[in-house]
Amino acid sequence: MKSEHFESESECLFFITGASTGIGKACAIELDRRGFRVFAGVRSDEAARRLRAEASDRLTPVRIDVTDAAEIAAAVEEVSAAVGDAGLAGLVNNAGIAVPGPWEILSTEAIRKQFEVNVIGHVAVTRAFLPLLRKARGRVVNIGSINGGLAVPYLGAYSASKFALEVFNDTLRTELRNFGIRVSAVEPGAIDTPIWDKSTALAEQLSADAGPEVFELYQSDLEAIRRIAERSARGAAPVERVVRAVVHALTAKRPKTHYFLGWDVRICFKCLRVISDRLRDWIVRRLIGLR
Ligand SMILES: NC(=O)c1ccc[n+]([C@@H]2O[C@H](COP(=O)([O-])OP(=O)(O)OC[C@H]3O[C@@H](n4cnc5c(N)ncnc54)[C@H](OP(=O)(O)O)[C@@H]3O)[C@@H](O)[C@H]2O)c1
Repeated sequence: MKSEHFESESECLFFITGASTGIGKACAIELDRRGFRVFAGVRSDEAARRLRAEASDRLTPVRIDVTDAAEIAAAVEEVSAAVGDAGLAGLVNNAGIAVPGPWEILSTEAIRKQFEVNVIGHVAVTRAFLPLLRKARGRVVNIGSINGGLAVPYLGAYSASKFALEVFNDTLRTELRNFGIRVSAVEPGAIDTPIWDKSTALAEQLSADAGPEVFELYQSDLEAIRRIAERSARGAAPVERVVRAVVHALTAKRPKTHYFLGWDVRICFKCLRVISDRLRDWIVRRLIGLR
């Protein structure tokens, strides 16, 4: 599938944040395989080396922590030198972390970090790349989540960040319409990536930091949450489901505004938002197995 703006794939340059593992890495490798030029955001030499080993010479790893203004500026400079007047065909805001835990236990620092990476980081990266995107009448693809449609207890900080990303996505889409820049949100449910292990490790660390007295207050709910997280991780869909949507959003003549990946995601966005709060609370507690 060709982009409507370029004669050939090799003239299209896409930038993806958080491409060291999971969804970002899979998107980078697939776009590279299709002949596009990919600049893939990583945070370590090791991640860059691993990506290079799995892709063609067209793929360029770029050092970028989305919370670091100097690294964002350097990445824009590097991409700008590579694309020249053609501009940037697409930006995928994918980098993300999931900070789990009850609001009472989470440190303010942890909550801030959740928003810095999942919201402010994407806003900063998008703003910095806008002049290049405007030149190409390019695309912005935001990787949202089922939790941008349904806020889940004990995943409140993550859910709040994904709700905020929805607002960013929808307002940006309207603001950039006149420049011919299309904006899409890809909304996955559970996908088989390292994020599950990372978030379990983070939960254990945060619980240890909170101390046993506070932790005990939430113990039975947290055990239920751990069980549902394990079940979700076991039933997680393959990463290719997300890759297909991202490729469509970047290259199709008429990209969708939202890609709801699965019936569960569709229900969360389309149905659970419009029912009463009490009914939704009841459904959520039942689904998660809370007493
Ligand atoms: N997997 C799911 O079930 C699922 C479901 C819905 C939505 N999502 C969303 O999909 C996106 C990708 O997640 P994933 O599942 O592929 O998880 P993942 O494998 O853990 O990938 C997350 C990526 O984000 C990067 N990252 C973390 N903090 C960063 C920062 N400050 N600056 C730049 N990059 C940073 C990580 O880099 P390092 O390796 O350097 O840490 C990694 O490359 C996230 O936005 C997530 O919320 C995932």
